[in-house]
Amino acid sequence: MRQTYSRSSASFYTAILATAAVLTLPATSVRADVEFRHALDDSVLDLSPIKGEEITEAVKSFRKDGVNPYNGNADALAAGKALFEENCQACHHADATGGMGPSLVDDVFVNSRANTDIGMFEIIHSGASGAMRSFSQRGVTQDQILKIISYIHSLKK
Ligand code: HEC
Repeated sequence: MRQTYSRSSASFYTAILATAAVLTLPATSVRADVEFRHALDDSVLDLSPIKGEEITEAVKSFRKDGVNPYNGNADALAAGKALFEENCQACHHADATGGMGPSLVDDVFVNSRANTDIGMFEIIHSGASGAMRSFSQRGVTQDQILKIISYIHSLKK
């Protein structure tokens, strides 16, 4: 009885090791998807959709290669402008040069990754310190975040 138990547990562990090897392989050989992390504690972000959110093709593509497909797209900029005025300008000013929150259009960044679209997305989605809260928790979708980012870029002189 005891022998049977130990033999089966050994094969159980072998199975686990084999499974782990198979699971790690694609991750190290492909490395296609961006890993989004929290600006403050570096934890991996939960990007599951909020209530009623559709994960658009633009979002899927951004999560794969970190390139914002809306940059330079006139329709996206117009939508991003309206969203920025509604959600962001009170703290970052209408032209994003800063108020109680920092300028988003200069080359000085509080958070180390905020000068990239990935870093901006992380901060807008899940927040940074103080008054900069998570906008996904306030109902802003990931597609809308990409549009806001494209609008912020259009404000750079
Ligand atoms: C209630 C005020 C407030 C609102 C509203 C707000 N922010 Fe912020 N934001 C801040 C503060 C304060 C910081 C600095 C946070 C820090 O130091 O980590 C910040 C930081 C940021 C940063 C990082 C900048 C850097 O230099 O690291 C980005 C990007 C950003 N905000 C974008 C936005 C966008 C886009 C919106 C609208 C969707 C928005 N914020 C709405 C207050 C606000």
